[in-house]
Amino acid sequence: MLEKFARYPLTFGPTPIEKLERLGAHLGGQVELYAKREDCNSGLAFGGNKLRKLEFIIPDAIASGADTLVSIGGVQSNHTRMVAAVAAKIGMKCRLVQESWVPHEDAVYDRVGNIMLSRIMGADVRLVEDGFDIGIRRSWEEAIADVEARGGRPYPIPAGASVHKYGGLGYVGFAEEVRRQERELGFQFDFIIVCTVTGSTHAGMLVGFAADGRARRVIGIDASATPEQTRAQVLQIARDTAGLVELGRDIVAEDVVLHEDYAYPLYGVPSDETKAAIRLCARLEGMITDPVYEGKSMQGLIDLVRKGAFPAGSKVLYAHLGGVPAINGYAYAFRNG
Ligand SMILES: Cc1ncc(COP(=O)(O)O)c(C=O)c1O
Repeated sequence: MLEKFARYPLTFGPTPIEKLERLGAHLGGQVELYAKREDCNSGLAFGGNKLRKLEFIIPDAIASGADTLVSIGGVQSNHTRMVAAVAAKIGMKCRLVQESWVPHEDAVYDRVGNIMLSRIMGADVRLVEDGFDIGIRRSWEEAIADVEARGGRPYPIPAGASVHKYGGLGYVGFAEEVRRQERELGFQFDFIIVCTVTGSTHAGMLVGFAADGRARRVIGIDASATPEQTRAQVLQIARDTAGLVELGRDIVAEDVVLHEDYAYPLYGVPSDETKAAIRLCARLEGMITDPVYEGKSMQGLIDLVRKGAFPAGSKVLYAHLGGVPAINGYAYAFRNG
């Protein structure tokens, strides 16, 4: 589905799928759990899901004649870290708006983890007071205008690289890659678990798996705590992406499966249950998930298995999308392990 699109390679290639043997056994052994390790997808600043999306966006940025990538996220945004890494790699400048999306306890929250890495990679990092919102932001539009006013040639990349004409393509590619791996494994996954916030990861997967009738087997776990906005954004991106790749069928609202029960209390703030899920997965598998995104989808996975939401014998693929550097901003939450 992606042959006609230019792709700038930023990742190592297909990401490994590994069985979560001990976690599966701990949860009763009725369901087989696997992880697709998108967190290990690149040598660029710890990698993660944004690189798959940026692979299809960067050719457009280069073709536009831009000299500065301009993007936005929260203070501990993984996405802005990835844009900073890509800008360094392709020899562009980088301007980042980091909004105050998360109330935090750690005094070093704006010094460590993702934001520290972006600064080290030379991005022009600007902190802004505005709160959480996955939509198009005034602060970002002002940054684009400011780069222009200073004689630069900005290339705008929205939050999460999501509301961009090519934002959904990377995770269509994920579905195609999983299908190839399934042929080697000799079985198909029954469910795919994905953390959903700005929407293009879920939307891309949904389109990619719609090609073999599995759109509704993509189970989104909302981590935005603004699920109506996220749901609408997933649907819109999925529809646009389906048109772009000529899927040949419509994506309807019912195709967007999004669980809302795990994002509490707020975006970026882990509940006790999220922290327990992070510890359980770390202690049984040595696999680290973060308090903002993957810890919440891990909590969702664990809870859904415990509730018997997946029929016995199901094979469930957890997409580990990255995000671990942010955990450095949560030292207080994990001060006792
Ligand atoms: C580690 C991680 N997981 C999940 C997500 C959610 O992906 P999306 O914003 O495409 O919904 C993000 C980014 O927002 C992320 O950085």
